[in-house]
Amino acid sequence: MKNYKNVTVLDHPLIRHKIAILRSVNTGTKDFRELIEEITTLITYEAFKDVPTRDVKVQTPLAECVQQMVPENTVAVIPVLRAGLGMVSGVHTLFPTAKVGHIGMYRDEETLEPKEYYCKLPDGIEQMRAIVLDPMLATGGSAGAAIDLLRSKGCKDIRQMSIIAAPEGVERLATAYPDVKIFVAVVDEKLNENGYIVPGLGDAGDRLFGTK
Ligand code: PRP
Ligand code: URA
Repeated sequence: MKNYKNVTVLDHPLIRHKIAILRSVNTGTKDFRELIEEITTLITYEAFKDVPTRDVKVQTPLAECVQQMVPENTVAVIPVLRAGLGMVSGVHTLFPTAKVGHIGMYRDEETLEPKEYYCKLPDGIEQMRAIVLDPMLATGGSAGAAIDLLRSKGCKDIRQMSIIAAPEGVERLATAYPDVKIFVAVVDEKLNENGYIVPGLGDAGDRLFGTK
């Protein structure tokens, strides 16, 4: 895959280790859920690197000093239902005050086009950094539709965080939204004829929620 300025592929042995277990057909729902959370926490560390901070005065037992903190109302995470829900607690582990908005989206099984069915965003979202959460970036249709929706609500600072991506989805998103920084843990080989990522992990929503 080509290098894109706005795409960060996290290349870390701990993430690779966890993704190996996540992919396995023998990994059950409980472990799958925990791994999604843990991998998300590791991506969050990187994706929040340039989050804005504000100077605050802190009194230690020895002296007063100026420190930096991330103000509340700075970041909102936007999980794409259903599978993105599994990533929220992974972000909250590191940044518990992140607001949460929800976008409901499913892929039409025939056309693979995203269909929106729900949207509830935090008040003041247009002033926040909005990070779209979805573990799977396949054709990129769902992520693109989520980004378009956020833009239509006035969001200017938008990021995408995914765990497994197909080259097709990364290319589509990176080209169509050069101002959106994209963070993915790994880019797989390809999409199959049904729009599934190969080798991937199967259907992330079903594996997270035990629905199949
Ligand atoms: C999955 C996944 C993404 C989408 C990715 O959701 O969680 O939202 O597919 O595919 P795309 O990049 O080709 O749009 P799905 O439609 O299976 O819904 P679900 O999470 O409710 O199972
Ligand atoms: N959605 C999934 O859950 N898995 C894929 O491989 C592609 C889309």
